[in-house]
Amino acid sequence: MKCLLVFYSRTGNTKKIGELISTEMNCEYEEIIDTKKRKGFIIDFIKCGFAATREKLTIINKIQKDPKLYDTIILGTPIWNKRMTPAIRTYITENKNQFKSVAFYCTLGGKGGQNTFENMTKLCEKTPVSTLEITKKEIKNELHLDKIKNFSRQFIS
Ligand SMILES: Cc1cc2nc3c(=O)[nH]c(=O)nc-3n(C[C@H](O)[C@H](O)[C@H](O)COP(=O)(O)O)c2cc1C
Repeated sequence: MKCLLVFYSRTGNTKKIGELISTEMNCEYEEIIDTKKRKGFIIDFIKCGFAATREKLTIINKIQKDPKLYDTIILGTPIWNKRMTPAIRTYITENKNQFKSVAFYCTLGGKGGQNTFENMTKLCEKTPVSTLEITKKEIKNELHLDKIKNFSRQFIS
């Protein structure tokens, strides 16, 4: 099965998990870059949460990989205010017509994963073949590695 892993990451957690999954599965990945400034502290943080809650779209850099060439697109996002990020919302909105099947993963403090997966399912108009939630605490305690192995195994044929 040919998979493409697509993620957005503001502070590196979702990127770290994405790189581990793509290594485990030996699949290609694409990092989505949001052209809007997101990395500052308090003001940017508040704006990020607000944009996610209001289901805002953003402008992302031109993608490098054509999603229609893959059997499954694995979409990774941090959780912001119990929702997907504007960058991933934009990627899905602009490319979902090309998706054959999807899977989702997220990184989070602890709350909002299921709600986000439901929203991503609706937006993609596809039920994910698998989902994976990884908390910051699991990363800190190195509990993410087994979860990644179990998740990745499902895509290796
Ligand atoms: C604006 C904002 C809102 C957040 N809201 C939530 C939330 O609702 N639930 C949660 O569990 N974590 C929340 N978090 C924590 C992030 O989901 C978590 O730190 C994630 O791993 C960050 O991923 P990244 O390092 O790839 O950017 C929020 C973080 C930010 C910046």
